[in-house]
Amino acid sequence: MREGVGTSHPNIAFIKYWGKKCEEENIPMNGSVSQTLGRMCTETSVVHTEDDVQDDLISYGESEPTKVDLKASRVIKYFREITGDRKALVIRTKSNFPACCGLASSASGISALVLALDDFYRTRLPRELLSSVARMGSASAARSLHSGIVHMQSTHGEHVGEWEELRIFAVVVSSAQKRVGSTEGMRCTSRTSSLFQKRQEGVEKRLERILEAIREKRFREFALIVMQDSNEMHACCADSFPPIFYMNDRSRDIVEKIHELNSDEVIAAYTFDAGPNGFVVTLEPHYERVRRAFADHGFSVIEAL
Ligand code: DP6
Repeated sequence: MREGVGTSHPNIAFIKYWGKKCEEENIPMNGSVSQTLGRMCTETSVVHTEDDVQDDLISYGESEPTKVDLKASRVIKYFREITGDRKALVIRTKSNFPACCGLASSASGISALVLALDDFYRTRLPRELLSSVARMGSASAARSLHSGIVHMQSTHGEHVGEWEELRIFAVVVSSAQKRVGSTEGMRCTSRTSSLFQKRQEGVEKRLERILEAIREKRFREFALIVMQDSNEMHACCADSFPPIFYMNDRSRDIVEKIHELNSDEVIAAYTFDAGPNGFVVTLEPHYERVRRAFADHGFSVIEAL
């Protein structure tokens, strides 16, 4: 039986996408910049169902298959439209990191699914289009179709370079599923937060500044922007009504620890997506010291880059 396979990675946003210009097409309100996390990985396979079932089914790791969710179904719909295929699919996917807790699992999952479907249908779509198709499922997934540092302005991601010395690890403080999904969270923030309106006035300028800092490998400036952007996104969430709190007390311990480590010189940055788990970004020469500051103090650490 024919099988399609795809392997992809999560990415962590240095400038966060939060809010949509167009819900139907899933176009982000603002540009974003990310790093693809090569050491974290999702593998996905796709086959046609052998049984007489109508629904597309997906199983995560060893779990029983369930109906695919909305994000995955939008991607499948695209491939059905261009190939005319009507048969139900069975998708198997596994990741080497915990899902659904703000570790960008949807980016990794959707981008791996896009690659598996492209392989399954032998469509061989160009990267830019694959990235656009991933966006239809989940906009952050569009960035995972590229390695290294990726800039996404509106419809698809573009590789903008590599920063070889950059090292990143995730700090897992909870494996509980997030209570407010990012799609729903963005909707609430853009409707109710006045701070979010203010964010729109400055975020593109900040994006330009970080791209320049990355190009010129100015870590201090880069790290300060990364932390400010994460703080601003979470402040907008807290300013939403009802307020959304992704970070918890342990997440705030991560923030404090980084500011402590940075007291003489900026050697690391934290950033949080829509969940309590953090990502710590540093440079190779400081990696061991920064990692130990967490690992030796009861935090669970996952190497990401
Ligand atoms: C906080 O890409 O999960 O991680 O497009 O609705 O699926 P949808 O949202 P999603 O949102 C990601 C939000 C973020 C920031 C980022 O990755 O840029």
